[in-house]
Order: sequence, then structure tokens, then C-alpha cells
Amino acid sequence: MRPVKVALILGARPQIIKSAPFIYLASRDKWINLSIIHTGQHYDYEMTKIFFEELNLPDPSVNLNVGSGTHAQQTARIMLRLEKILGRQKPDLVVVPGDTNSTLAGALTAVKLRIPIAHIEAGARSYDMKMPEEVNRRLTDHCSTILFTPTENCTKNLLKEGIEKSKIYQTGDTMYDVLLQQLPKAEKTTILEHLNLEPKTYALVTAHRPENVDDQQNLRNIVEAIISLKKLTIVFPVHPRTQKQLKKTKLNKKLEKEKHIKIVKPLGYHETIKLIKNAKLVITDSGGIQKEAFWLKTPCITTRENTEWIETIQLGANCLTGANKQKVIEKVKEIIKNEKQINEKLQNMPNPFGDGEAAQKIIDVIKSFLKELD
Ligand code: UD1
Repeated sequence: MRPVKVALILGARPQIIKSAPFIYLASRDKWINLSIIHTGQHYDYEMTKIFFEELNLPDPSVNLNVGSGTHAQQTARIMLRLEKILGRQKPDLVVVPGDTNSTLAGALTAVKLRIPIAHIEAGARSYDMKMPEEVNRRLTDHCSTILFTPTENCTKNLLKEGIEKSKIYQTGDTMYDVLLQQLPKAEKTTILEHLNLEPKTYALVTAHRPENVDDQQNLRNIVEAIISLKKLTIVFPVHPRTQKQLKKTKLNKKLEKEKHIKIVKPLGYHETIKLIKNAKLVITDSGGIQKEAFWLKTPCITTRENTEWIETIQLGANCLTGANKQKVIEKVKEIIKNEKQINEKLQNMPNPFGDGEAAQKIIDVIKSFLKELD
């Protein structure tokens, strides 16, 4: 077999994290010539570079520097710039992780150049086409040649949509791989001391989904819910999108007045993991944090009407409240009241997200696929 050229396309924070285990293995494999193409969708230090540093990842070979814009602008800019790069690099395979605009733009560009595509985290569905990520993952899955699913439910979703069984490989979730690999380093961070927090006395809150933070009423509901939780310390790392909206609505002023709320800038991976692990509970709209809370056995409240990680709901580790102030407050009270039983239940749950070896399985499939093309 000749060494094969694989181009990995990423650009947003969660994609860097979920690609890390794949990058470690692919860049060490003598049969794989890996090129990392960063779209530049995220560009602030806290949203991208910090993860390359913390996770010891090689620098991207190219940065397309597309930056922010409307969905069409961002997607189109990536496609225009990526087409040239892929035309020059001529990879044997393009790998796209997750469900961001960078994922979709990568898949659309590659499929039109007739380059085979492998999608990492295929088959996740919230069945809510108002979410940009749902559009991105559905279209990406239907352009892909190889689909790596994290769970059985994701595999079933693809089969329901008529995707051929022979294209689907249920490998487990690379986000679980990276969590297991990085947990010792996460444990060593001093974020609890730094923020003056005692384990299991605080709630970690995140919000960044457009349906929550770009909608003034929903943002207000979430802010009012955490303001009224006065008995609980709240740690709130604020995503740039959310920061903008908090300023616009002046809700930042309300939050800053509250003694029990600690507003911080977006955190690194290790610090986030340590905070999730030691939190009494998590309130989030992030897909990744719902899973991380599940693996770290911390109760999770999801401020969305639906989730693609339905497994966490079915097992009773996570619940959906939407951006509903009363429901969030009630759920927090319920978790605190039944803390002991909930924690016992969390300790004994099966893990539907694989065995922490997803990236190795992905590499094996990719190599045998490319061997056949030779
Ligand atoms: C994107 C992904 C989402 C993922 C999230 C994680 C899509 C459609 N959404 O959402 O799935 O969960 O990343 O963060 O791809 N901004 C900065 N600095 C940055 C990046 C963004 O200031 O480094 C600001 C910009 O003003 C931008 C806004 O944040 O307009 C939103 O960024 P964008 O990439 O459009 O989407 P996210 O909300 O980050």
C-alpha cells in the first residue's frame, strides 16, 4: 500500500477536541499523510489555539481564515477557499468531524470534487431543522462515503434515512476517547482554587446556541433562572456569541451585580472537564457538555426542547427544560433534593458511547477502505 493523503477539515472549538484522538493516531501512522485544514470559523485564542496547545496537536497545515459571517457567507467562503486547497493537495480522503458550518462546507466541497468523505460523529439527530447543526449533519451524512457513528441510536437514525449499512461503522465517540486520555491532566488544573470553589457546591452554566442566546426572551429566561438560584454558586464561562448578546440586551449588567455568579471567559478543555466533574450539576445547551457531564457522572439540565444525545435522557442522566425559567429552577431543586439517589444512579449507568477506542477503529476502517481503492 502506498501512503495515503488524508485531509482533516475543522474550524470550530468542539471539532478540535473531538478530532484530537484521530490526529494523534493518524499523524503517527506511516501509511497516512495527514493534512489538517483549519477553516478559521473560530479565530479567538480561547476558541481555537488554546486547544491545539493543551491537546498537543500539530499546527494546521493551512488556515482558510474565513472568520464570522452569516451562515451562507461562512459556508460559501469555506467552500471557495477549500476548493483551491483540495484541488492542489488532491487528498485520497477528506475527514469531517461533527456538525458545524465547517463540517458541511468541507463535505460539500469534497463531494463535488469527487473525493471520498468520512464523517466522524455521523447519525446524530435532534429532528429539529431549525438548528443549523441539524441541517449540517443531515446533509453531511448524505454526502459521506464512510459514516462513523458514536452510538447504536445514531446508527439506527442513518438506517432509517436509507443510508446503506455497508457505509456505517459504529466506532463509539471520539469525545469519550479524548476525555479518558486527558482526564489526568484535567485533574491537575487549579481552576477550582482559582475560582475559589469547593467541589460539589456550584453549578456550571453554559449557553451559546442561537435559539437561546440570539432570542432575547430565551436569553433573559436563562439569565433570570440563574440569578434566582441564589443558594448555589454559578460558574458561567461566556461564549463570544453570548457575550455579544448579553451586552446588547444589557443583561451582562444584571449578571455582574450578583455575588453568587462568576462570569468567566471561555475556558480551555482541561479546566472545563475539571469544572464539569466537580460541579453539583450542569446547566447547558451544548451537545458536547451533555455527554461530558454523563461520562463524568454529573447531573445535567439541558436548556433545549430536544437533544441529539437522546441516550443521556433515556438513561435519566440528563433532562430537557427548554429555555424555561420555572422548569430550570424546578429541576435544580429536584436534583439537589434527590442528590444521593441521582448520584448512585449515575455511577451505575451503562455507557452507550463506546469503549474509548473509537479513533483506533476509525483509523483501521480508513486504512482498509483506502487499500481497496489502490
Ligand atoms: C459553532 C457551531 C456550533 C458549536 C459552536 C461551539 C455552527 C453552525 N455552529 O457555533 O455547532 O457548538 O461553534 O463554539 O457551525 N466568535 C468570536 N470569536 C470566535 C468565534 C466566534 O467572537 O473565535 C463570535 C462571532 O461574532 C460569531 C459568533 O461568535 O459571529 C458565532 O460564531 P459561529 O462560528 O458563527 O458559531 P458558534 O455560535 O460559535
